[in-house]
Amino acid sequence: MLKDPAELVGTGMAESTAYEYYPSGELLVEGGEIIAVGPLGSLAAAVDASEVIDHGSSLILPGFVDCHVHYPQLDVIASYGEQLLEWLDRYVFPEEAKFADAEFARKVAQEFLDELLRNGTTTALVFGTVHAQSVEVFFQECEKRNLRMIAGKVLMDRNVPEALRDSPESAYEDSKELIERWHGRGRLRYAVTPRFAPTSSPEQLAAAGRLLQEYPDVYMHTHMSENRDEIQWVEELFPAAEHYLDVYDGHGLARRRSVFAHCIHLQQEEWARLGASGSSIAFCPSSNLFLGSGLFSLNKAKQSGIPVGLGSDIGAGTGLSCFHTMDAAYKTQQLQQESLSPLQNLYLATLGGAAALDLDDTIGNFQAGKEADFIIVDLAATPSLKRRLERAATIEEQVFVLATLADDRVIKETWIMGEKLYERA
Ligand code: GUN
Ligand code: ZN
Repeated sequence: MLKDPAELVGTGMAESTAYEYYPSGELLVEGGEIIAVGPLGSLAAAVDASEVIDHGSSLILPGFVDCHVHYPQLDVIASYGEQLLEWLDRYVFPEEAKFADAEFARKVAQEFLDELLRNGTTTALVFGTVHAQSVEVFFQECEKRNLRMIAGKVLMDRNVPEALRDSPESAYEDSKELIERWHGRGRLRYAVTPRFAPTSSPEQLAAAGRLLQEYPDVYMHTHMSENRDEIQWVEELFPAAEHYLDVYDGHGLARRRSVFAHCIHLQQEEWARLGASGSSIAFCPSSNLFLGSGLFSLNKAKQSGIPVGLGSDIGAGTGLSCFHTMDAAYKTQQLQQESLSPLQNLYLATLGGAAALDLDDTIGNFQAGKEADFIIVDLAATPSLKRRLERAATIEEQVFVLATLADDRVIKETWIMGEKLYERA
């Protein structure tokens, strides 16, 4: 995928010109970088035959980008019966308390990263827990694997169990230390991460704003306007604010490289102000359906000029596979009589996600010079998928079938910076 298909609307260009697809193609990779992509026979002449790998009839795609996920919630997936605020109290906070133990955190981080690669996800924007060491070990594990990842320590100094509380001062100091050590180290980046407005005091949100002023190129990552009870709670806690976004924006937290997960119930004025701020949205459809939070409007985001990527939002989300998230995204649009074409959906999961993370000059497609993070997709992974894909007449239809039916089983290999890090057994 080379362009945003949505950008073509009104230009008279067809969506079919927004991508390059070679039914028989070649991808030339050297030194961890994409050198070129083209039809079979166009590039291999330049390469020693012993260095050519034949992937048969598999599809080669850019690695997936997950714009919102909680690594400490790997074991919270599929917890029954609650909506957001009760679900946090009942399942999430007890689980996140375990991350006070750095070795426990490291084991979960390792398993989480193995799972991401098994699902073909090569970049993610990731919540840790309130414990600085949860992010320390996470970055250590990412560095070992040479992954392009963004993560941050959660800030929360009120309305959570005592054991999970930090303070404005410790939040500032711990985040600063992590930024100094990890932001910009290799492929890693830091995100200042207030959990959401209800769990941060105004003093703590101000401390987060100070960090963004001192380190202008770090990210900001939080939740916003996910659930109606949450929104009402924010109104009670911040009576002077115009609306939910005003709480964040009033502390300097809405700007380029700010990523807000959910944004389901925004008012018109919030859409406009979010668009003007340069912030991005992580659309988390499987999570929104699972917690009964509501239906995100992709059209409103587009009309407001807001970059959108997809988020699995594990553990409220129900799968790490970006195919699973694409399936839920399509159905969410269907329920609103909005359309989401297969190619737009694939864009959200790759280059669109990269753009939402301000990384579209680095990852997201096969443009020469980009980092060589890519996946090998087996189009015959299961008998029923094979049957259905054999009947797909176009690449659009193939992508739609994959989005609807595929999961981790189709990921044959995952390559990071030109090195194979995962191979299906
Ligand atoms: N809002 C605040 N914390 C969380 C969380 O952990 N998951 C989701 N989905 N929403 C949140
Ligand atoms: Zn979340």
